[in-house]
Amino acid sequence: MCGVFGFVGQPTDVGNAVLTALKTLEYRGYDSWGLALSAADHLLIDKDVGRINGRRRVYPISSQGIGHTRWATHGGVVAANAHPHVDCFRRIAVVHNGIIENHAELRSALESRGHKLESDTDSDVVAHLVEEELAAGRDLGAAVSNTFSQLDGYNAVVVMDRLQQRFVAAKRVSPLVIGLGEYGSTVASDAIALHDHADELVYLEDDQLAVLHARGVDLYDRSSMRQITPISRVQVGPREDIDRGDYPDFLSKEVSEQPEALRRLVREARDEIQVLADAVRASGKVIFVGCGTAGNAAAAGAYLFSEICGHDVTIAPASEFRYRSQSLGPEALVVALSQSGETVDVLDAMAEARNRGARLAAIVNTPRSTLDRSVETRVLLRTGTEQCVLATKSYTAMLATLLLTASAVAGRSSAGSEAVLRAADAIDEVLVNGTRERIRGIATTVARSEHLFVIGRGVHYPSALEAALKIKEVSYIHAEGFAAGELKHGVIALVEPGTPCVVLCPDDQTRTDILSGAAELKSRGGHMIGVGSIEDPIFDDFIPVPDAGIANPLVEAIPGQLLGYFAALERGNDPDRPRNLAKSVTVK
Ligand code: F6R
Repeated sequence: MCGVFGFVGQPTDVGNAVLTALKTLEYRGYDSWGLALSAADHLLIDKDVGRINGRRRVYPISSQGIGHTRWATHGGVVAANAHPHVDCFRRIAVVHNGIIENHAELRSALESRGHKLESDTDSDVVAHLVEEELAAGRDLGAAVSNTFSQLDGYNAVVVMDRLQQRFVAAKRVSPLVIGLGEYGSTVASDAIALHDHADELVYLEDDQLAVLHARGVDLYDRSSMRQITPISRVQVGPREDIDRGDYPDFLSKEVSEQPEALRRLVREARDEIQVLADAVRASGKVIFVGCGTAGNAAAAGAYLFSEICGHDVTIAPASEFRYRSQSLGPEALVVALSQSGETVDVLDAMAEARNRGARLAAIVNTPRSTLDRSVETRVLLRTGTEQCVLATKSYTAMLATLLLTASAVAGRSSAGSEAVLRAADAIDEVLVNGTRERIRGIATTVARSEHLFVIGRGVHYPSALEAALKIKEVSYIHAEGFAAGELKHGVIALVEPGTPCVVLCPDDQTRTDILSGAAELKSRGGHMIGVGSIEDPIFDDFIPVPDAGIANPLVEAIPGQLLGYFAALERGNDPDRPRNLAKSVTVK
């Protein structure tokens, strides 16, 4: 979702530096962008809807600027709603991520005091509130602190005053990270945007306020405005490869990275997995929470835990967690699954669990994300940055982590590692032999359908949910995943002659039952697409995947990813940035 960036330092082409930084935040998802620079005697604002693309513009040399990529929440996708937003005198520029829940009352109070707000967003109230604080004689830090404490909800704001060579940042839940470098100081919603500018990073915490200037950052306790020292400074590591390389898009690149990501996890995460397994063993109750794809991984994890180590794990969509599990206590372990570590529903669920006295753990891909920093026990997925909006390599890495953890709980860690390595080899086979091309052919037919169903049983039911999610979010075909046994309780009414039905049919205890479900769909004219290691005459099309035993869910994830990918290409959709979706869902 929205991306935030700011620079203050030695005079330079700040405008294009901001554009370059915003491009690194593009993967979060956005529909418009904008920047503000302190020019000689005015605030220069440049905004537009759509993508930044390869844009370079002629901007004046400046010593500070802020920028923003917007994912619309309040107000349509028009340039006037793009950030930065300004005060009545065009002295203050503000970029914001989050939702100001009480914006309507703040807006009407400001308007009754004579302010003219230029956008329909919830964000521009910040500029006008800061304007009033400055007019009352407060310095910029105190002005932003007082303003921020009036905002309800989870928000991150960066406020620039064109009359001062400094700007101020504050946050609640929405992430902000500060970069300290030779030529100036920077702030962004994601460390990935700070690489060109920073040697050291400081992660801003909720109760802090940062005043950034050319020589560094002054941190304050936000309520008392007492100066404090950063809890920790982190060296910027080597630049991660975030290019597409020779791939046409990030989706195909990240799909193909999965075998190596799984092998890396087995090699490097053993100790972290053992600690998580010990925490599971010590708990009376284990609950997995996650959203979307991570929620599907959690659901698969519950089956894997039951089968591998006999633990009965509860699962909850993170956004629903607050409404249940009221009786949790210290005997409970709540394990959050998240690629970004910034999904606000996940962070909320963890805050709720902490309040109820539960112990907290995470399976997370992004090091130093808010989730990573807030738990006692965590396994890092180590897949590298996932740039495509679709979760692919993080999903199979989550499944592998759950399988490895369940195996460690059962005292069979080596068997778990062997299973994951077998799955990695099997995925390699799916990706390099003719299977990929066969999936492309099937996707060409599927792309002409309006509806599609995916069925599975047992641990393959979450796989069906995930395959359907992958297909629908990128191809925009209405795809639904079902537990095959549920078909005749209603869903079967939707099947018409020619409706594509993907059947996850591995060679295990679910095979006989899933073939019965497939027969019911076939009798209604469904076009049956089997996925498994053994063909069956019932299938009109078949996607062969090598058998990987207990690790089959990792392998059967690939056909869903590729069906979605090729159907998206066939329909002319952008595989990396599906409409309406954001990578990091930082609002409720
Ligand atoms: C689907 C997808 C989303 C995410 C969900 C959770 O491809 O990407 O469903 O899985 O928004 O995100 P994280 O894992 O970052 O918490």
